Amino acid sequence: MEPGALLVFVGLLFFNSESVSSAVCDVNIDPSRVVVRFGDPVTVNCSTTREDVLGAGWESSVSPVNKMNSKIAVWNVSSLTVWDAEPKCFINYMNEPRQCAEKLDLVIYKYPENISLIAPEFMKIGVESTITCQVLDVAPARYLSVKLYKGDEQLVNRSFTHDSTHFPVNESIPFPVTPTRTDNGAEYTCVAELQLGPGGLKPNPEKRSPPLKIPVVYKPSLLSAAEENVEVREGGSIVLKCSADGSPAPTYEWKYPKADNVQEITKDGVSTVNITRASYSNARVYECHAKNTYGVAMKNITLTVKGGTPWIMIILIITGVVIAIAIVVGGIRFCGR
Ligand SMILES: *[C@@H]1O[C@H](CO)[C@@H](O)[C@H](O)[C@H]1NC(C)=O
Ligand SMILES: *[C@@H]1O[C@H](CO)[C@@H](O)[C@H](O)[C@H]1NC(C)=O
Ligand SMILES: *[C@@H]1O[C@H](CO)[C@@H](O)[C@H](O)[C@H]1NC(C)=O
Ligand SMILES: *[C@@H]1O[C@H](CO)[C@@H](O)[C@H](O)[C@H]1NC(C)=O
Ligand SMILES: *[C@@H]1O[C@H](CO)[C@@H](O)[C@H](O)[C@H]1NC(C)=O
Ligand SMILES: *[C@@H]1O[C@H](CO)[C@@H](O)[C@H](O)[C@H]1NC(C)=O
Ligand SMILES: *[C@@H]1O[C@H](CO)[C@@H](O)[C@H](O)[C@H]1NC(C)=O
Repeated sequence: MEPGALLVFVGLLFFNSESVSSAVCDVNIDPSRVVVRFGDPVTVNCSTTREDVLGAGWESSVSPVNKMNSKIAVWNVSSLTVWDAEPKCFINYMNEPRQCAEKLDLVIYKYPENISLIAPEFMKIGVESTITCQVLDVAPARYLSVKLYKGDEQLVNRSFTHDSTHFPVNESIPFPVTPTRTDNGAEYTCVAELQLGPGGLKPNPEKRSPPLKIPVVYKPSLLSAAEENVEVREGGSIVLKCSADGSPAPTYEWKYPKADNVQEITKDGVSTVNITRASYSNARVYECHAKNTYGVAMKNITLTVKGGTPWIMIILIITGVVIAIAIVVGGIRFCGR
């Protein structure tokens, strides 16, 4: 026979024994992707449309199946408690290809057992610190996404797409954080999410760490000008104020010549010096020191005491009133005549 005739002959053989499709593997796994929680039941069908079937089955370390003369094999596990089940469906045929096999795309997952934040006792502004998120006993790492939040704002995330481990793992993820002054009192939370993809739960299962507040420390800075010049009239009163923002809250110390008519009061983060019945001896520089462990802010208030003009005014007013009364009284007497 000529080569061309042989090809036609073989072609006819295939065509006659079955349909053309019998020349190819035809393994249908349904569902094609299975996402199951460790310990949950799972049922998967494997079937073929070819007629020349000898048998079908599942190869697996759990519940293997071997069905003779069946076009369908069901892998059925009431509780999946192995991580490396790796089920594979196989089908045997009378004709070539005689055995076809296909792995099941199986994802066995487990929520993290515990998730927590490990952070320094405090952070300094402008200095990089590390907040570590610890995720214990989670699987599979490949679908894990770990995110660090400050309040509602997501700061950073990490994923482990290149990790092919099936078993549960522990992950410690260090996240760098450089705080600013406004971050003092902020609440940090770590969220572990399993992005399981098609066939997985929607929304993705996630677990949150308890929120953590990390104090941010910084040296005090004044809330008003470092230099002030104020005036008071002799005999009058005045309040000198000093206030600074610092973490921890600053303590205040004033430096000036002490006197009976001068009093210091510190309340609600504001330190004041009250001067009553001011005299010329109070005219000095009042130095305020706002201090914490990380530094000190200083303010100088220069007080000037002005001369007794008000006394002249008061005398004039009193004189005026006396004269007015005298006139009125005089007038009444005059009328009374
Ligand atoms: C699997 O096959 C059985 C019949 O053997 C059928 O009842 C069932 O619906 C199939 N399941 C799926 C997921 O196709
Ligand atoms: C799977 O197995 C469970 C018991 O282990 C049984 O109740 C269920 O009917 C089985 N399902 C199928 C599709 O064979
Ligand atoms: C989670 O881990 C943290 C620190 O490792 C621990 O303090 C905490 O008790 C754990 N929580 C649970 C529920 O296991
Ligand atoms: C993770 O962060 C990157 C940018 O850093 C962002 O593009 C991505 O959407 C984030 N992923 C998630 C799951 O938030
Ligand atoms: C994960 O951490 C827990 C507690 O620290 C430990 O008991 C367990 O063996 C660890 N697992 C792995 C896979 O390292
Ligand atoms: C200090 O001055 C303020 C403001 O005038 C006043 O409210 C406060 O009572 C004064 N304190 C003392 C102890 O005099
Ligand atoms: C405040 O005054 C003191 C002396 O009274 C001086 O040593 C210091 O430098 C002054 N500080 C400022 C900020 O002016």
